[in-house]
Amino acid sequence: MRRDVEAGSDAKLTLSSGGRETTVDLYSEEGMALVDALRLKQAAEFKRMYEPRWLGVPIIQLPEDIVAMQELIWHLQPDMVVECGVAHGGSLALYAAIMELIGKGRVIGVDVDIRPHNRTAIEAHPLAHRIDLVEASSIDPATVEQVERRCEGAGTVMVVLDSNHSYAHVAEEIRLYERLVTPGSYLVVMDGAQALVADIPRGKPEWAEDNPLTALREFLASTSEFEPDRHFERFGATCVPDGFLRRRAS
Ligand SMILES: C[S@@+](CC[C@H](N)C(=O)[O-])C[C@H]1O[C@@H](n2cnc3c(N)ncnc32)[C@H](O)[C@@H]1O
Repeated sequence: MRRDVEAGSDAKLTLSSGGRETTVDLYSEEGMALVDALRLKQAAEFKRMYEPRWLGVPIIQLPEDIVAMQELIWHLQPDMVVECGVAHGGSLALYAAIMELIGKGRVIGVDVDIRPHNRTAIEAHPLAHRIDLVEASSIDPATVEQVERRCEGAGTVMVVLDSNHSYAHVAEEIRLYERLVTPGSYLVVMDGAQALVADIPRGKPEWAEDNPLTALREFLASTSEFEPDRHFERFGATCVPDGFLRRRAS
């Protein structure tokens, strides 16, 4: 694959799709926004978020979002991170690794289906002493009760929603988990980008409406408690548009 393309200061990008053409200067804000938007669509099409590993554990995130979460956890220094949606556990390992360096904190991973080989790998990981697994649906009231009990007494609690990415499920997760987020901390709603990749070849037209972004925007319209912190979106392509929600400090 040729990578040494010529793109001098006069370079322009033309995108042709759906019978429309858009041309922008490559080295402009518009050019950068276009490249970021296209990088997201290509990454989703080629499933690039399935490539990274964190300390040996597969993590289903774009590298840009892994860096953003690393910055957020280091900055916030939470005592507890609750993540709905574990898969292989790569994000749990990321959060636990930073907590290990900080010298405090625990991670609770909730997943309706923790595959035996994933559980074995997580439980055998050098960071396992910072990780608790809960195998249950994130929206089952008994799960929320269990998680809430484990968060009791924790100073700073952060919540990450990355399980079922349907509108209805995420709206319900937001409703159930937002109260766990302590003032000044974050509710991270992953994969709102599903709304932005509905038109890719492997996308589904229904994703345009049925997605986490619609749920989180509705939530933001209903509350002044949370605001999106776009600082963590500045790496360009992100699966978390508007999704780093900071709970106001007071
Ligand atoms: C995108 S993956 C999670 C990726 C993981 N957070 C990471 O960063 O590597 C989604 C996970 O959500 C889980 N899931 C789906 N429905 C769920 C539900 N109702 N409750 C909890 N987990 C669910 C799936 O089993 C799957 O493991």
